[in-house]
Amino acid sequence: MRLVIAIDGPAASGKGTLAKRLAAHYRLPHLDTGLLYRAVALALVDAGTSLNDAGAAAGAAAALDAGSLDDPRLRDRAMGEAASRVSAVPEVRAALLAWQRRFAADPAGAVLDGRDIGTVVCPDAPVKLFITASSAERARRRHRELAGRGEAATLEAIRADIEARDARDAGRAAAPLRMAEDAVRLDTTDLDAEAAFARALTLVEDARARIG
Ligand code: DC
Repeated sequence: MRLVIAIDGPAASGKGTLAKRLAAHYRLPHLDTGLLYRAVALALVDAGTSLNDAGAAAGAAAALDAGSLDDPRLRDRAMGEAASRVSAVPEVRAALLAWQRRFAADPAGAVLDGRDIGTVVCPDAPVKLFITASSAERARRRHRELAGRGEAATLEAIRADIEARDARDAGRAAAPLRMAEDAVRLDTTDLDAEAAFARALTLVEDARARIG
């Protein structure tokens, strides 16, 4: 049976790690959809174009190629903020929607993680998870990750980044960050990566058993 797993949640909630592990477990292709928005933002930055230029952002989204998703600069702290800004442009979202739907149409199924996978990109996905954690815990995790990559920033600054990004992503008119009505919420605040994966696996198996 084709299995599509939709995973959404706020910044640094651990959804990417879970998505990657679930994809490996079920041998499914995985798409980190945040990378698409980051790549659009990076294309603007590289071209010296303002992030407020909606037309240029839409053009960059339409011209995006898969090769640009491997650029390590996409993971930089500034790129999360820049991606959040371009992701509010409806034409950017429309261009990337087609890309994401093609990916999700893989005959085997797919795992996609982002902000609007369960609500907009794959509303019919049989398995939807909404991953959360407190902003303090998410800031701690992101701080560790950035420090590991040699990018120094204070915990307070990272927490402020994350909270501002969540507010923008949840407050925008186009496909805001929102839990789908039929999604299951998984709060990972008190769970380490192993426990979070075990819990997610149980939730996916429960959902698969329900749909037969
Ligand atoms: O998941 P991430 O931190 O890499 O995402 C970066 C930004 O991209 C996020 O702040 C909002 C946007 N985004 C989105 O609007 N919809 C998605 N499905 C994924 C990301």
